[in-house]
Amino acid sequence: MQVRVFNNKDEASAAAFDIIKDGMQNGAKVLGLATGSSPVTLYDKMVASDLDFSNMTSVNLDEYVGLSGDNDQSYRYFMNQHLFNKKPFKETFVPNGLATDADNEPARYDKVIAEHPIDIQLLGIGRNGHIGFNEPGSDLKGGTHKVALTQSTIDANARFFANKDDVPRYAYSMGIGSILKSKKIILLAFGESKADAIKATVEGPVTADVPASALQNHDDVIILVDKEAASKLSQK
Ligand code: GLP
Repeated sequence: MQVRVFNNKDEASAAAFDIIKDGMQNGAKVLGLATGSSPVTLYDKMVASDLDFSNMTSVNLDEYVGLSGDNDQSYRYFMNQHLFNKKPFKETFVPNGLATDADNEPARYDKVIAEHPIDIQLLGIGRNGHIGFNEPGSDLKGGTHKVALTQSTIDANARFFANKDDVPRYAYSMGIGSILKSKKIILLAFGESKADAIKATVEGPVTADVPASALQNHDDVIILVDKEAASKLSQK
């Protein structure tokens, strides 16, 4: 794992942008994308750039079960607002929160991933070390699955909803096994609330208790953090 520490989110996001730009100049065609606040500055830079995404495919990590793409809390809506409506892609994939065949949605999405192998996967990280919605205890080799969200994730995401009771309890998430198949992985983390998760991810053992620690098993992971998120690392 390569860890790069920046003064702030803006500088780290500029570095992430450069990695994506280089990747595209070297033939990357499929971006794995993430939601949450961490990638927003990067998406703003992608929108403001003159990069052309019209030949690019995106495959998103996760989606809440039960929310339609029109719901302003869905991850499909988030991606449309922050990126796709402003920078058109050739095609964009997000799990379908309203899949009528809910039992089949994970397998359907795994097929999407298999047909569009991810060149660069972007990740945020939860305070408990989750990536996508792979909560502590997740299978470190698994594919897409339906997840019961932990209370800490529901609490952390409640800020985006009018009412805590509106936060969905389930999500579809790409699995850690699917994430690890990506050629290159960029993880963004900002702020002190991520410091414990970053320390455990980088310096702890590979354990299902900290799903992001599985990234130690991948040979091309770049972790871009601000000083606050890096503050508990023993090697600076
Ligand atoms: C959600 C998303 C994750 C994201 C995490 C952290 O749980 N499913 O993909 O990494 O939130 O979000 P934030 O970047 O807002 O801290």
